[in-house]
This record gives sequence, C-alpha cells and structure tokens, in this order.
Amino acid sequence: MAEKIILTGDRPTGRLHIGHYVGSLRRRVQLQNEGGYKDMFVFIADAQALTDNFDNPEKVRQNVVEVALDYLAVGLDPSKVTLFIQSQIPELAELSFYFMNLVTVARLQRNPTVKTEIKMRGFGEDDAVFGSGLPVGFFTYPISQAADITLFKATTVPVGADQKPMLEQTVEIVRKFNSIYGDTLVEPEIVLPPNAASQRLPGTDGKAKMSKSLGNCIYLGETADEMHKKVMSMYTDPQHINVADPGHVEGNAVFTYLDAFCRDEHFGRYWPDYANLDELKAHYQCGGLGDVKCKKFLEKILNEELEPIRARRKEWEKDIPAIYEILRKGVEHAREVGAQTMDEVRSAMKINYFQDKALIEEQVRKYSL
Ligand code: TRP
Repeated sequence: MAEKIILTGDRPTGRLHIGHYVGSLRRRVQLQNEGGYKDMFVFIADAQALTDNFDNPEKVRQNVVEVALDYLAVGLDPSKVTLFIQSQIPELAELSFYFMNLVTVARLQRNPTVKTEIKMRGFGEDDAVFGSGLPVGFFTYPISQAADITLFKATTVPVGADQKPMLEQTVEIVRKFNSIYGDTLVEPEIVLPPNAASQRLPGTDGKAKMSKSLGNCIYLGETADEMHKKVMSMYTDPQHINVADPGHVEGNAVFTYLDAFCRDEHFGRYWPDYANLDELKAHYQCGGLGDVKCKKFLEKILNEELEPIRARRKEWEKDIPAIYEILRKGVEHAREVGAQTMDEVRSAMKINYFQDKALIEEQVRKYSL
C-alpha cells in the first residue's frame, strides 16, 4: 500500500463560495485534521485558469491571493498542508508534455467535463470537431490535470463530482504510463462529497449551480449582512403561496442547503420544535410551515459555520505578505517532491542521459569492439 498523499486544487477565477465549501473545502479540513497522511497538497491552479482566461491575466493574478485567503479562512493550516501556486512548478509542464503522447484527440473529445465546458464557454461549434475557436491549451487541460495529480503521487483527491471524468482520465494515463515504461506513477482515488446536496449546491435562485455571473453565490468572505439579504430572498417553492399550502422540498433551495449544512444538533440549539430535518420536511410538506421560518433557521446554521471562517479571513487580510511567504515555501516543497518524481519519470522513459553511467559505458563498449 502506498502512503496516503492527499492533493487537490482550485482555479483562481473568483472568490470561493459555500458551494466550494460543501463540495470540497470542508472535507479537506477534515482530512487535514484526521492526519495519517504522508503529505497533503492544496494548490491554486492558475495555469489551468489561464487555459480559458489567457486574455485576462490580471483577473487570475488578483484571485490567487483571494483563493489563498479562503483556504486559510476555512482552516487549512500551512504547518500541516503544503499550499502552492501551480504555475511555479515547471515540472508540471514537463510531465504534461510526456503525457500528451499517451492520450488521443478522440479520448479528450469524449471527456464529459471538457465537452460541457466547451459548450458553456461558447468556443466555436461550427466545426465537426470542436470548432475553430478552441485553444489547444484548454482542450488538453485534462492532461495537465493528470500531471498535477501524478507529479505528487497523490493517492487521494477530494473534489466535486464534476471532476470525476478528470480523475478517470488520470487513472488511464497512469496505467498506460506504467505499462509502457514500468511501474512509476500512482493511481489516484477520488473522494466525493458525502451527499447529493453537497455535490452540487444550487445557487440562491435555485438554478443548478452557483456562479458569479448569475449573482447567486454566497461567498465565504461576505458579511453576515450581505448573506442575510441573500438568504431571505432565496428561491423556495413557487407553489407554496400561503403558509397553509403543502410545500415541496425537492428543488427548493432552502431545503437543499439544509441537506448540505444541517445536523440534528442544530435543532436543539435553534429550533427545538423538531428533532431532525426529516421532521421539519414532513411538516413543510403537509402545509402550515412558512418559508421565512425555514430561512431564519438556515441563516443561523450558516452563520454558525461561517462566522469562524469570516473571522479568520479578517485576520489574514491584515497580513498579506505572510500569505505570499506561505505560498513561496509551499512552492519550494512542491518542487522538491516534483523533482524527485521527474527523476523517476526520466529514468523510466530512458531520457536520463547524464544520470545513467551504465548507458555511457554501454556506448563505449559498443564502439570499442
Ligand atoms: N479542475 C479543478 C477545478 O476546476 C482544479 C484542479 C486543477 C484540480 N488541477 C487539479 C483539482 C488536480 C484536483 C486535482 O476546480
């Protein structure tokens, strides 16, 4: 059994929100605190963000520190976790280049994440292949993501369900690499969020996903006041007009958030009329329970969870240079680990010319016959 190495990351294209939190950040902090791993890496995927924001480097640059602040705010601890910036690890580009030999264009075209993102981002659809406007860098980012994971020999990758195709493709690349060049790289395992609500938290408007452009996010760094307005205007059940009407909990954003955040103990603290979420849902479904009460309950639970995060963020905001120092140290450590793996990769691929004394001797012998 390989030693446990945990790795994950985020694109710095905006501040992180509670969808990121339930989808991955919360689990990372748990994994960190459980311990029992050899190494844990959490990195800011700026190079990947540039694959579809190459024309907006300032946005990516600004969001690197925002994401780092969010990491520290949720409780990732730089003494336990290596925090680093992807672009500062040149070994990643090197490994990606060799992985490109192991992946076909057709396989990339079948990657469901790439497929939907190409549609979402509106890269040209006029072409039978993926259209004229599709940058090669974006198209091949699953390969670079496989390098992110394998350069550090990660065994455990906590991510949202949307990243499943990326992990599957990584496993394929590892198998192919190891079968051609010999056992070198490690197959990673995905760790998904515990329940459906946490896997895809909808926006406050009930739309499928939180997204900055839809203005339906609750950010980790926002104030309790900002959040109050959003919770009170959340989408619920359009057919639940009068309090006495029966309500639906499916597709009702308030209940989906409760599924993701609520624990039985919250009822004891904030709403002792019910023992658990099932009882609350049952009452809502028969009618006689108003939305505002449910929203107030949700707000209390969110504030309980977010208050320490907001406070830690405020503290770190006072010491930005320290954050860059944490990232710089993280890069240093990540490069050491990456350099070790690249030595092994180069030797497996027979491109370790200057390290391989036997190779020189072999050539000498060949020409002295
Ligand atoms: N693709 C991930 C996202 O969009 C970010 C990412 C890049 C990542 N490389 C990774 C996640 C490696 C886990 C492992 O959020």
